[in-house]
Amino acid sequence: MPKVLPKPINVGIIMDGNGRWAKSKKLSTTSGHEAGIKTVRLIVEESIRHSISSLTLYAFSTENWQRPKKEVLGIGKLLIQAIKEQVPELKEEGVKISFFGNYKRFGNKAMGMIKSAEKETDLTKPSLLLNIALGYGGRSDIINAVNEIISSNQRKKITEKNFFSFLEAPVEEIDLMIRTGGDKRISNFLLYHLAYSELLFVDTLWPDFSQKEYSKCLNHFMKVERRFGKRI
Ligand code: IPE
Ligand code: IPE
Ligand code: MG
Repeated sequence: MPKVLPKPINVGIIMDGNGRWAKSKKLSTTSGHEAGIKTVRLIVEESIRHSISSLTLYAFSTENWQRPKKEVLGIGKLLIQAIKEQVPELKEEGVKISFFGNYKRFGNKAMGMIKSAEKETDLTKPSLLLNIALGYGGRSDIINAVNEIISSNQRKKITEKNFFSFLEAPVEEIDLMIRTGGDKRISNFLLYHLAYSELLFVDTLWPDFSQKEYSKCLNHFMKVERRFGKRI
């Protein structure tokens, strides 16, 4: 039985390595992304088993719009397909799905699917909050928040805590951030939310990332002493 975590845990994952996985198998990049979606399903299951509060996945960055048109179109199609196939099951399992970022460029069909997935899974007592960063960039998130504050002319004092409410992600502190694919960088993921996260970088390419390896990451996290700057 997986160990149940002692307190609410917010996990963030940079799901990297689909392209290299596909290349190593002489498959198309889109096949790599397709394999990556299968991993998402497994990791969602394992998150529920471990009673994770929220799982925030980096699916597509603002910088990823610069990729070849064919790849971007392929991702858009896979997104629609994944929502169609997986949302009924996820709903059954009590998963509440939210998307955040600027994903308009994926087109009206994708936008409609996203909206209906969010509506369908708007459960009152979800087993897991599944947040998907799509067309997301940490810097533009902060800049948009600042502009919103300026233009709203509001008088409420901005604090470290209430600033979260101006940001796009429906989550605050990330406790554990995992990046697959071997690179040790943030690539414009949740900059404000990662201030005190534990960072784990694993070499495994996302399509090969398993429930077992994810469990290991969670077990490792449970053992780390988080000091938040204090002398403990
Ligand atoms: C991550 O995998 C998925 C997206 C950025 C959409 P990559 O496609 O970046 O995989 P690598 O890094 O090229 O292997
Ligand atoms: C980060 O991966 C973005 C996602 C996983 C969605 P990238 O492959 O885009 O990042 P870089 O280019 O290696 O920094
Ligand atoms: Mg990559």
